[in-house]
Amino acid sequence: MLLETSASVYSTLDHQRAASFHPLHYSEYIPDPHQPNTTLHPPEIYPPPDAVPVANSPSHHIKCFVAIDFGAAYSGVSYTASTSGEMHQVLTWPGSSASLPKIPTCLVYDSLGHIRAWGLEAKDLNLKKGWVRCEWFKLWLNPSLAPRTLLASRSLQVESNLTSPPQPNAVDVVADYLACLWMHTKSQVHRENGPSSLTVPSAWDLHASLLLREAAIKARLVVQHSETGDIYWQDRLHIIPETEASAIHSFLSPAFKFQGGQVLTICNAGGATVDLATYKVLGALGTPKLAEVAPRSGSYWGSLFLDLNFRKLVQARLAAHPVHLDEASLAHFVRTFSRSEKLAYKGPEDERKLFRFRCLHGEDWDDPAVGLYNGELVIPGDVLRREVFDPVVKEVLHSIATHVQASRIRLDVLLLVGGFSANDYLFQRISDQFGPSIGSIIRPADGDVASCRGGARFGIGSLVSSVIQPQNVFRRVSLPAEEEDQMMRPAYITNVAGTWFCEHRVEYIVRRGSIVTKGSRSELRLRKFCSSRYDRTFDIVLYTSAGDQTRRYFDEEGGEELCRCRIDLETYPSFVEQVEASPFGNFCVDFVLGFEMDSAELRCMLLYEGEKWGTVACHPRRYRAPPL
Ligand SMILES: Nc1ncnc2c1ncn2[C@@H]1O[C@H](COP(=O)(O)OP(=O)(O)OP(=O)(O)O)[C@@H](O)[C@H]1O
Ligand SMILES: [Mg+2]
Repeated sequence: MLLETSASVYSTLDHQRAASFHPLHYSEYIPDPHQPNTTLHPPEIYPPPDAVPVANSPSHHIKCFVAIDFGAAYSGVSYTASTSGEMHQVLTWPGSSASLPKIPTCLVYDSLGHIRAWGLEAKDLNLKKGWVRCEWFKLWLNPSLAPRTLLASRSLQVESNLTSPPQPNAVDVVADYLACLWMHTKSQVHRENGPSSLTVPSAWDLHASLLLREAAIKARLVVQHSETGDIYWQDRLHIIPETEASAIHSFLSPAFKFQGGQVLTICNAGGATVDLATYKVLGALGTPKLAEVAPRSGSYWGSLFLDLNFRKLVQARLAAHPVHLDEASLAHFVRTFSRSEKLAYKGPEDERKLFRFRCLHGEDWDDPAVGLYNGELVIPGDVLRREVFDPVVKEVLHSIATHVQASRIRLDVLLLVGGFSANDYLFQRISDQFGPSIGSIIRPADGDVASCRGGARFGIGSLVSSVIQPQNVFRRVSLPAEEEDQMMRPAYITNVAGTWFCEHRVEYIVRRGSIVTKGSRSELRLRKFCSSRYDRTFDIVLYTSAGDQTRRYFDEEGGEELCRCRIDLETYPSFVEQVEASPFGNFCVDFVLGFEMDSAELRCMLLYEGEKWGTVACHPRRYRAPPL
């Protein structure tokens, strides 16, 4: 059953008030004064909405799990009650009276950096002088994965406006958007929200997930309850791969009957990315589970590239007619294509068809040589296929083929989800190429919201029991020097109290390709020398790499800082004991750091006698916009 709400029944328990149409009320946003890079502007909506106080109904006190599918092009929200497991979707959004499962990932800021509109309203708003429309900002959370040419592409910059002031960086823009989405969700979900999940592309690295977590916390998707000892409040937020969420949703869908031993690949073709993951169904009896059996992969060949190719095609065709090539005209052509011809294009059937695109300007209307007839640019279907669709489809097929090859396992089912997989031409090309080797290729009817709904199911308990680690995680250490070190890195050898050590060695915490049971932990035993009772924090820096080779020395190529973790030992029993025993300082404390790997995240915690003792603050490497 899907929950639909109307403006008359707004009610949120957290705030006792609801913003009627606009989701954010300026007084509800609390900027973090400790964050040096905090948003330069609170995400206010002008004019501020009229808050509508509503009665608090105890019957609404049901915990539910909320999942946000934060997409590059569109975002959606699903939620499910922990008691019944019933699935709901937020369908009512500012700017439309129709039921919509997803809304554009889009924001409009004014010249002072205030949010003027978000979602649907932002997409179509006429911009005043100094206002900017931001789109595609999700790509900037993982710029290392996005092709540089894409980020540097003039057309994307024009589309996204991300490089323009006043947006300081992508994390802040994402936080602003999530805050809008979240406030609106709270006005729609008549329940007390429990854990939340956010989905990310499969190929995103741990750093991008940490940045998204930072944005989500800035957006207050999870908050600390002040009255209780709520120290693990951030654990209520889960970042999970879109493919895992889609797999969970499809696996539970009554439309499919998967059997033990079957292998299914999820291909999520969306606005910006094409993500792939492969799972094996374990245990036909009892509670079946899914185990990841191949490294997740993905590429930036989503539907956006069709738009970018179309833009290039128009520019080439109308090169001799610059009046039709100003930004407004190009945006008009691309918008028309993206909202209609692109969606319905069928490939061979449409080869002989002529596609007509009306010019924005009423001059320079005819040039049959380039297909300009009476103010319309006419493009034959086969040209659209060759110039716009084929280059992207070829890359999508290549991504799937590479994944299938790397899986080294016979696939039974290929499930196509995500907006782009609704394209008939893409579906036909995938079926032609992979049909003979993969038993069945399926496009579920609700494939556009599969990751969102699966994300909400995740709150009840993930069906995925084990995952394959996509990255190495390590730290820099000094280890007793060995003969090899004397030969390879003599400059790193030092003598400490009579023992020879080699500095800049590497200690692995997680190895790429290892199969990890969800919820399992690895432990690191550490010792800190404390000069006084106030000397109680310990910092470690974690690094990641993607290579398969085991690195011995830190200076080998390919590593990148993931985050800095600060461990506070103030209440740790061994520290407290030592402070009592040696009040003037100069004592050592042994402690244990635990690492819990999930599919898209590494959680770091302090452990005491095998139990979780406290949280560890992890600060991701600061986001730096890549130089263009
Ligand atoms: N029939 C179609 N043909 C081509 N593209 C389509 C079709 N239907 C939807 N799309 C495109 O799919 C995208 C939306 O899909 P989806 O919501 O899965 O993307 P997203 O989640 O925002 O992106 P990502 O997963 O990459 O972050 C839009 O770019 C839309 O233009
Ligand atoms: Mg998506």
